[in-house]
Amino acid sequence: MRYFNGRQLCATSLLLLLNAQTALSDLGITVNNDDSYISAAKEVISPMMEFYKQNQTEGIPGKLTDTWYIAGSMFMTLIQYWQASGDDTENKIVSHDLMFQAGENYDYFSSNYSQWLGNDDQMFWGLAAITASEAGFPERDGKPSWTSLARAVFNEQVERWDSTTCGGGLRWQVWPYQAGYGLKNAISNGGLFELSARLARFTKNDTYQDWAEKIWDWSAKSGLMNVKNWNIYDSVSNDDQCKSPDNHQWTYNYGTYLAGAAFLYNHTNGDEKWLKRVNGLLATSLQTFFPKKFGGNTMSEVACEPIMTCDRNQICFKGYLSMWLAFTAILVPSTRDQILPKLQGSVEAISTMCNGQSDGMSNLCGLTWGAGKFDGVKGLEAQMSALGGITANLMLSATQTPKTIDTNPNADEGTVPSSGESDDPSKPKPITTADRAGAWILMVIVSVAITGAVGWLVKP
Ligand SMILES: *[C@@H]1O[C@H](CO)[C@@H](O)[C@H](O)[C@H]1NC(C)=O
Ligand SMILES: *[C@@H]1O[C@H](CO)[C@@H](O)[C@H](O)[C@H]1NC(C)=O
Ligand SMILES: *[C@@H]1O[C@H](CO)[C@@H](O)[C@H](O)[C@H]1NC(C)=O
Ligand SMILES: *[C@@H]1O[C@H](CO)[C@@H](O)[C@H](O)[C@H]1NC(C)=O
Repeated sequence: MRYFNGRQLCATSLLLLLNAQTALSDLGITVNNDDSYISAAKEVISPMMEFYKQNQTEGIPGKLTDTWYIAGSMFMTLIQYWQASGDDTENKIVSHDLMFQAGENYDYFSSNYSQWLGNDDQMFWGLAAITASEAGFPERDGKPSWTSLARAVFNEQVERWDSTTCGGGLRWQVWPYQAGYGLKNAISNGGLFELSARLARFTKNDTYQDWAEKIWDWSAKSGLMNVKNWNIYDSVSNDDQCKSPDNHQWTYNYGTYLAGAAFLYNHTNGDEKWLKRVNGLLATSLQTFFPKKFGGNTMSEVACEPIMTCDRNQICFKGYLSMWLAFTAILVPSTRDQILPKLQGSVEAISTMCNGQSDGMSNLCGLTWGAGKFDGVKGLEAQMSALGGITANLMLSATQTPKTIDTNPNADEGTVPSSGESDDPSKPKPITTADRAGAWILMVIVSVAITGAVGWLVKP
């Protein structure tokens, strides 16, 4: 054994201390090592849930200050993470709060918020619900299945399809008094396209595939999507009959159309038409959002990240595209070799970037994955985006296929959910199929009423 004198010993322990701190602040991810992904995800989730608590409005479950949909997309991310990792630490909160925000009519259009919602806000909750079905997330006793919540969102949104300008499309906002009602944007239409595609594959009901085809065709025809160079624009405007698309390039817009096309490719047992579309959109996505500046394998939100102007919504986008790229690799196996290095490069970058410390929290992630260190942008959104990037890698190593009603029969519309979660007599009894049909009819009436109201408001 070597002998240390006092001063040497002191210097050595200082060195060890420094080393320990470095080890603590880096997420310690090794590519292809699931244990390292899961322990990194836990480090990222802990401050995310702290922000979630701090940011809840008046303690209302699933309602964050100044935004409504972001909690929904956080639940979507956590459910995907749970499926890929088996770590159920947050499941209780997710299950409760995701159902809570479904609102009075189980359609994610609660009267608390419905006056100021965009179609994209509601859509994110719908995607969270279909994610729950595909992941086999436990159903709730006495509540509608997750699938029926996703279907309710779909049913309401297709009622809002607007053929009065530009030959169709979903408007960004729901109400005429909202700025943005005059726009038809990629996330609303791409989001509904993705939801339709996933419902088609999950339920095998052709109505959803028909709508997915219709939304795709309209997007290509209206100029929102250019199927020659495979660009997706952010929005088109009713004012000029959709003639001048807004050319901002956002990761999540590509993600919705790409993932939807991948689900349909898989659902149609390999239809060449959908393969061509997947390959087209994949090529532009990989080319646009993985800049040379970061070595070509690290995702970047190129429209705002280089100039550090991303708002709280835009901070989240890379997490979504990551998970939707993972779906693409799973459902369209021929794309896997292209996608894997991009997700691995990104997760290595995330590992070194999530080393921020502030207000007693550590492992804070920033905006710029490729920065090599924390860039100072902190909050729930940055944590969630990084969690999406880690989860995408777990999805690929777990190679879990999204379930369908064949593999998750509990999610069937006609089945009364029975997870055995509660025997408490004060809790509501499971609702019967007949009750559910009643709720269904009520919902149809509500959506007809909404459509009627829009029509009435539009009239001069
Ligand atoms: C809630 O989050 C937003 C966005 O991250 C932030 O601007 C705001 O300060 C937070 N509010 C609280 C009370 O934490
Ligand atoms: C709607 O607002 C009321 C009053 O703040 C609150 O008690 C309730 O939990 C909210 N519901 C939802 C779904 O957010
Ligand atoms: C298929 O889905 C549509 C839209 O949600 C619904 O109206 C229809 O009843 C469904 N068909 C079957 C056979 O479940
Ligand atoms: C659909 O996805 C599964 C994996 O989830 C895959 O094994 C299968 O080959 C895919 N179908 C097609 C036609 O590629």
